[in-house]
Amino acid sequence: MLVIGNIKSINGLIVDVLTTVVDKPLINTVLYLDEFPEVMLQIIGYSDKNIARCLNLSGSSKVYKGAKIFSSEKGLSIPVGDEIIGHVFDSLGRSIDVRPDEFKNSTFVDVFTEIKPDRKYRTNNNDIVETGIKVIDFLTPFVKGRKIGIIGGAGVGKTVLTTEIMHNIGNKKDNLTYFVGIGERMREGHELFNTLKEEKLLESTVMYLGQMNENAALRSIVGPTAARSARYFRDKKKKDILFFIDNIYRHVQANNELSSMIGEMPAEGGYQPSMYSDLKKLMEQLDSNDNGAITTVQSVFIPSDDLSDPAVVEISQQLDAVIVLSRAVFESGVLPAVDLLQTNSSLITEEIVGKEHYDLVGRVKAILQKYESLKGIIAVIGESELSQRDRDDYHLAQKLIKYFTQSMFVTQDLNGAPGEYVSREDNLKAIKSLLDSGTGNESTSQQ
Ligand SMILES: Nc1ncnc2c1ncn2[C@@H]1O[C@H](COP(=O)(O)OP(=O)(O)OP(=O)(O)O)[C@@H](O)[C@H]1O
Ligand SMILES: [Mg+2]
Repeated sequence: MLVIGNIKSINGLIVDVLTTVVDKPLINTVLYLDEFPEVMLQIIGYSDKNIARCLNLSGSSKVYKGAKIFSSEKGLSIPVGDEIIGHVFDSLGRSIDVRPDEFKNSTFVDVFTEIKPDRKYRTNNNDIVETGIKVIDFLTPFVKGRKIGIIGGAGVGKTVLTTEIMHNIGNKKDNLTYFVGIGERMREGHELFNTLKEEKLLESTVMYLGQMNENAALRSIVGPTAARSARYFRDKKKKDILFFIDNIYRHVQANNELSSMIGEMPAEGGYQPSMYSDLKKLMEQLDSNDNGAITTVQSVFIPSDDLSDPAVVEISQQLDAVIVLSRAVFESGVLPAVDLLQTNSSLITEEIVGKEHYDLVGRVKAILQKYESLKGIIAVIGESELSQRDRDDYHLAQKLIKYFTQSMFVTQDLNGAPGEYVSREDNLKAIKSLLDSGTGNESTSQQ
């Protein structure tokens, strides 16, 4: 190991190292403290030709000014390979559920190796992955290899829905599932582990946790660590992967914390100037390619229920579809609390979902749109003043809203209501028959 210099200054998790060697270590190299090898510093840049700016990955308080630093001469190495399936790891790729040395003979890959953006996924591959959840399969069908978001404010059901999707599709043949906990409750990660174990889904799942109890450095790299691990299976094992993140907003937030430690001037909404590139980089690491598909489901926290928050807007733009959960819907007792009009998918095209499904979405959206305006009119003049046609449409919309409610398997122990799985075919049939039994409404359909 090579001594490369010593610590010049410390600001939170940011450590500046004065390098005294001619050959400067490369960015992303992991440095160690001479006397405490467990302290890991990752070079994130050079603030001056001799000053390596580092992230204190271990968050350890053992760092001190003047400490002698040596280079590991490599980046952050994490174990991969079939033996990691069924286990839980931290942001640095150390196993949590079993002793880390269980994986000492595994293949190791470097988290930070620069990756070239992958070639775009075969666009003619439109395999639909059924979730059994009516509202999702109808409004935001999962298409293999694409990115889907579940967005909503605090406590409106993002985690419940994410877990239900894992429950319903995790056991489909040949899938490898990843779950990444970023900045959420520690307890939730443990509960998920137990649920997966009980449901025998753990044997096809890998979990990475960088939860809210961890420092910002660990919360910011758990996403890239898990993505690197998944890419190993995509590229070396030609696997298709389902990749769940709860919560991607916390990735942005962790990077924001680090940015203010470096003293960067915040940009719009108080976020870091590099928010767009931070996000884009992680999203690119989760792209599908000809080796395999990575289908991601990412929950997105909305601060103050504000859909126009710059981070939420930025994240939404990187996704192919967003399921919007709303507080108003949640408070009206409708579960899952999906805002049917805000929920949107660029994957609803005739080519992907077929003409019948496409037309039904148009009809449903039209009725729901009308319902929104009728609600305002009814509040002023009362329902009896509506024409028969409007009244029929109003009731049809109510029936549709009720139809899209559904009990979840993962909450059946909580509320006693048995979980329900509806196939895509039955779902479309039921929606068609509801629409046809209403006013017929050919004229409201979007042709
Ligand atoms: N579809 C649902 N069926 C039954 N109960 C639900 C459902 N969605 C949410 N809940 C109830 O609401 C609670 C909060 O849901 P959840 O933890 O999923 O919210 P969240 O959006 O992930 O919140 P946070 O922003 O705090 O992470 C759950 O513990 C559960 O009691
Ligand atoms: Mg949650």
